[in-house]
Amino acid sequence: TDLKQVPTQSGPLATYDPGFMNTASCRSAITYIDGDAGILEYRGYPVDQLAAGASHLEVAYLLLYGELPTPDQLASWEKQINTHRLVHENVRELIDAFRYDAHPMAKLMAGVASMQTFYPSSRRIDDPEAREMNIIRLLGKIPTMAAWAYRHSIGRHFVYPNDELGYVDNFLAMLFQSQQRVYRADPRVSRALEVLFILHADHEQNCSTNAVRSVASAGNDLFTSVGAGIGALFGPLHGGANEAVLGMLREIGTIDRVPDFIAGVKEGRARLMGFGHRVYKNYDPRAKIIKRSCDDVFEVTGVNPLLSIALELEKIALEDEYFVSRRLYPNVDFYSGLIYEALRFPPEMFTVLFAVPRTAGWCAQWLENMTDPDQKIMRPKQIYTGYRERTFVPQDQRG
Ligand code: ACO
Repeated sequence: TDLKQVPTQSGPLATYDPGFMNTASCRSAITYIDGDAGILEYRGYPVDQLAAGASHLEVAYLLLYGELPTPDQLASWEKQINTHRLVHENVRELIDAFRYDAHPMAKLMAGVASMQTFYPSSRRIDDPEAREMNIIRLLGKIPTMAAWAYRHSIGRHFVYPNDELGYVDNFLAMLFQSQQRVYRADPRVSRALEVLFILHADHEQNCSTNAVRSVASAGNDLFTSVGAGIGALFGPLHGGANEAVLGMLREIGTIDRVPDFIAGVKEGRARLMGFGHRVYKNYDPRAKIIKRSCDDVFEVTGVNPLLSIALELEKIALEDEYFVSRRLYPNVDFYSGLIYEALRFPPEMFTVLFAVPRTAGWCAQWLENMTDPDQKIMRPKQIYTGYRERTFVPQDQRG
């Protein structure tokens, strides 16, 4: 339908699609998902191959520029991002000024949004050089702000970036270093986190990416747009499911209680958290990889006792008619919380650990939005359900 011919703003020809389940808001060449087949590709490369062989910054480059970097391009890309890890001291003070119990996502959101005021070039959204420079700044600084948001929560001094360390190792050091001891991550832990970063780097038009694009479509700079994306990810229906999985595993408590719990799910008394997905009607390809990473991390940290409950839940569910007929499989959140907990992260940091790598995808989607000549300001229609043409009643004549 040519919408220009719709007779009224919210006329009968509008499509009512709350949640945009059948509405494509944009064109994109970044991420491909086939939910029925359980396929996820970045720029055409299967995510399992990237998780096996690439680094997070390599994947960020791929998402942004569409091609894998050559060794020289990668070295120069890493150097540029690493030289932008330091955060303006006023942003440090901004994070420091929050209440002691402020959620780290709120601090991260404020820190990123504030960057627009420190880098006025970000307002030059039509200038390719300014766009690239600010993407590099954001990718460099987001781990620093995330680590400081965490350190503020636990009342510890902020750790400044270390130029000697790679992206993930430096992030871990800024999180966990103490004054007494230089922190160097075990390579197995660092690789497992890198894999988690790659798996979370982009996922096409999810809620937060849609928020980034929607804000960007009004002509907004990268920092304002990504700040909005962090706000969307903060929501428990989006970024918070892995925390709910841990709560469920704790509640079940022991393996022998798993069959009872499954029976309760089938009777509609609970949901099996970390199972099912709007898009994947097959095993979420990311969950398969994360399950393998669990082994590497637990070799270092010791096995998270909740793992055996998770494995038993999965075993029973995958053979049960209820889950099979509804095509419910483990999703990305089923195992990731177990790893984060084993690394001693408090639950409120789980969503921050999602936001840091997703920044790569948000930047790529923001850039694609800005450079698509056909992309318009996002302004959906509505189906109006209220009154019409009432006559104003002065205050003294009401009631
Ligand atoms: N446990 C038990 N039953 C389930 C579950 C579950 N986790 N998920 C779906 N179902 C059932 C529903 O009850 C429904 O059954 P019915 O047909 O008998 O009514 C059927 O499967 C279809 O479910 P919907 O809710 O319609 O599927 P939808 O695509 O809307 O929901 C969602 C997807 C929200 C992810 C859902 O599967 C869910 O709540 N899962 C648990 C929460 C979770 O793990 N979320 C993380 C998703 S990944 C991410 O966001 C990064």
